[in-house]
Amino acid sequence: MARQDLRGKVAIVTGASSGVGWQAAVRLGEAGVKLCVTARRVEALEKLRHLMQDKGVECISVPGDVTVQGDVDQVVRECLAHYGRVDILVNDAGVQSYGLFDELPWEHITRIFDINCFGFMRFARAVLPHFRQQGSGHILNIQSMLSKGSAPLLSAYSASKHATLGWAKSLEMELVGSGIQVSNVLVPSVATNMFAHAPTMFGLAPKPVPPTYDPDVVARAVVRCARNPGKTSVPVFLQGRLMLWLNGIAPGVGKFIMGRWGARMQMRDEPVERPEGNLFHAIPQGVGPYGPVPPTPKWKRYSMAAGLAALAGGVVLGVAGLARAAR
Ligand SMILES: NC(=O)c1ccc[n+]([C@@H]2O[C@H](COP(=O)([O-])OP(=O)(O)OC[C@H]3O[C@@H](n4cnc5c(N)ncnc54)[C@H](OP(=O)(O)O)[C@@H]3O)[C@@H](O)[C@H]2O)c1
Repeated sequence: MARQDLRGKVAIVTGASSGVGWQAAVRLGEAGVKLCVTARRVEALEKLRHLMQDKGVECISVPGDVTVQGDVDQVVRECLAHYGRVDILVNDAGVQSYGLFDELPWEHITRIFDINCFGFMRFARAVLPHFRQQGSGHILNIQSMLSKGSAPLLSAYSASKHATLGWAKSLEMELVGSGIQVSNVLVPSVATNMFAHAPTMFGLAPKPVPPTYDPDVVARAVVRCARNPGKTSVPVFLQGRLMLWLNGIAPGVGKFIMGRWGARMQMRDEPVERPEGNLFHAIPQGVGPYGPVPPTPKWKRYSMAAGLAALAGGVVLGVAGLARAAR
């Protein structure tokens, strides 16, 4: 498909009060897109709206909860009333909860699905009638490396992201020939407030599996995807393309590392009491793109990549050696 000119297009961005959603809205606005931003926190959305208006970007904010059908319909209605159209839906709103699967409260599991998976579907169903009428439109889903992989303590989150990718892939097939595109961005660990928002069963502050990237890396991938729709984008190398490749050739390596050290890797030595986090109600903390854990410096990422590449090379040589010996 031809590269799209984004100037004058209209995008709804969910989860825009912080993290990836906030930064994706900023980058889309800078690329000439008119914005309708949504999340539950009204003040945060207003802050983003003012920021965009100061940059000369048209932006409206419509608060809402992605689990409430009436709120979702209202966002789409207000966007259409204001701009007369909607071209891009950036499905971003997401939550997670840290705990062993059998210790996670059942309500956490169902709520995670209601937001991460059904929230994406609700918004897609709300815009699709307009997209079909227009004969064009783009549903751009913020996925995760955990839409394909897995991590301990995040079983419900990972399951919801796998489900959402499966749904998106089916939708993409149904829409062939309709002029409507579906894209997915597989996000690695990014330094957002997600880890300051998430509930935990462990009494220690959660942190992302290293290395951690700048959310702007993802925001720029969202803009590239908006320009070239219809793809599943993996924006980074180390915790992205290399990881997927390594998992394909030697799935036991990731399982061994994450099984042994994955749980500890995701906790900071900072006591925290957060049994519900932002699951059921928004919490005021953590507005804007960045969270408490800074992105991993480039030199550290490069050394980790070199280490992993060496490990992968060793595995490939080892397998080749074994195959030769068996002949
Ligand atoms: N951070 C990472 O390492 C990472 C890795 C892979 C994928 N992702 C994906 O990136 C997306 C954004 O996460 P993030 O890192 O930017 O986290 P974040 O800073 O916590 O942002 C989550 C956003 O979702 C909104 N939200 C949560 N529950 C909602 C609800 N019920 N209704 C409406 N909005 C709701 C939050 O706003 P309100 O609280 O104001 O509603 C917030 O704007 C998610 O889909 C996540 O799965 C993140």
